[in-house]
Amino acid sequence: MKIIITGASGAIGKEVSALLGQRHEIIGASLRNSPHQLDISSVSSIEKFLEATGPFDALVSAAGDAYWGPLQGLTEAQLRFGIENKLLGQLNLVRLGLKYIRPGGSFTLTSGVLADDPVAGSVNYAVANAGIHGFVTAAAQELLVVGVRINAVSPGVTDNTMERNGPNMIGHTPVAIARVVNAYVKSVEGIINGQIIRVY
Ligand SMILES: NC(=O)c1ccc[n+]([C@@H]2O[C@H](COP(=O)([O-])OP(=O)(O)OC[C@H]3O[C@@H](n4cnc5c(N)ncnc54)[C@H](OP(=O)(O)O)[C@@H]3O)[C@@H](O)[C@H]2O)c1
Repeated sequence: MKIIITGASGAIGKEVSALLGQRHEIIGASLRNSPHQLDISSVSSIEKFLEATGPFDALVSAAGDAYWGPLQGLTEAQLRFGIENKLLGQLNLVRLGLKYIRPGGSFTLTSGVLADDPVAGSVNYAVANAGIHGFVTAAAQELLVVGVRINAVSPGVTDNTMERNGPNMIGHTPVAIARVVNAYVKSVEGIINGQIIRVY
């Protein structure tokens, strides 16, 4: 399969690329540190990237930022950040990617545990993640008609990012990155559709 992985240089994307790259052609993309560059928060950047990449069999999105900070004093701009980046960015990858995905193909988006099990400061992440869950559940019904699957992987805090994320994730137990990678494998190479694969 020809598989696009956005966020390919990240803590999750790098591991997913390494494993799926053993048996598939990987088009690794991210803002700066991957073979291909794209900004998921920009429609024109996504369009340019997809046009250059051409038809593909699977798209894995492992990129998406949101604002971290307390609800008290949260500005509209801060709230918009995660909605426009992590949520809308991934939805646009699907919306625009539909023009290029081959029949039988799949989309795999990334949400996260904060939709279900929030901590202080996680409002913007929770909103973006929950939006992704709603989108995937609804889009899967419509994509059946064109023979395309869509799922989301919702990881807990991964063990390879504990130094960075651990201090914010009070009371959360780290999840082995290998378990998270397997959730992407299940979505891309398996048969499931419309699932939120929670790896907690
Ligand atoms: N790690 C966890 O514990 C965890 C848990 C739950 C959910 N998640 C979610 O999983 C996703 C990936 O997390 P991570 O820990 O792997 O992140 P990370 O290590 O910070 O990596 C982020 C990746 O996204 C790319 N990126 C950032 N902004 C982008 C943009 N506007 N357009 C395209 N690519 C962009 C980065 O590219 P460059 O390197 O080129 O800048 C990098 O490849 C995020 O949505 C995160 O919220 C992570």
